[in-house]
Amino acid sequence: MTGLFITLEGPEGAGKSTNRDYLAERLRAEGIEVVLTREPGGTPLAERIREVLLAPGDEQMNPDTELLLVFAARAQHLAEVIRPALARGAVVICDRFTDSTYAYQGGGRGLSLERIATLETFVQGDVRPDLTLLFDLPVEVGMARASARGRLDRFELEGRAFFDAVRTAFLKRAEAEPARYSLLDAAQPLAQVQQAIDALLPKLLERARG
Ligand SMILES: Nc1ncnc2c1ncn2[C@@H]1O[C@H](COP(=O)(O)OP(=O)(O)OP(=O)(O)O)[C@@H](O)[C@H]1O
Ligand SMILES: [Mg+2]
Repeated sequence: MTGLFITLEGPEGAGKSTNRDYLAERLRAEGIEVVLTREPGGTPLAERIREVLLAPGDEQMNPDTELLLVFAARAQHLAEVIRPALARGAVVICDRFTDSTYAYQGGGRGLSLERIATLETFVQGDVRPDLTLLFDLPVEVGMARASARGRLDRFELEGRAFFDAVRTAFLKRAEAEPARYSLLDAAQPLAQVQQAIDALLPKLLERARG
């Protein structure tokens, strides 16, 4: 039995976490086993790596260090949470996954996409998301929502050019693989975003029930 691997992607403030909970509730109401998790993190050890990744600090983090930490956390998360859940047939909903690596470390930091793809295969084997909801919104809207939430993390402290590159990278990936992505307009009011998610539910339920 293999489960269904759904990832939620998009920049800070797009509404991934808010809608992750919403989507999980809708699927659970249909009797589906849902495992809710997030990256970087998802296990105690991977959450410690997350803290290292997000904490602003005096020492500049080398981009390769950042990339390797992201994949180190992912290896742990896959081994402890994602692979076992999929193996028993659960639906895994993950708040950020490797698309964020392509967008932030690839687009934002300018690291080689080939190198990311090499690590992706090394760490994940053939595990790839079955479906990805991409929450897209103008950079300034996302930044405003993130700032309104309080103290900024190491990524949120980046400037406009970084987030423009992140958004472009996400959109390019969605365009290259339209069957896997559902593009959502995350600048709309929450009720409308949730209506768009409701519209995806029949397809999700069909896939989840195999
Ligand atoms: N469609 C929406 N309209 C207005 N506000 C929203 C909408 N979606 C989410 N928000 C609000 O924006 C803020 C950020 O949302 P949320 O934490 O879900 O974003 P996120 O994508 O998980 O961000 P991050 O990547 O930083 O974790 C929250 O305060 C949330 O209530
Ligand atoms: Mg979030």
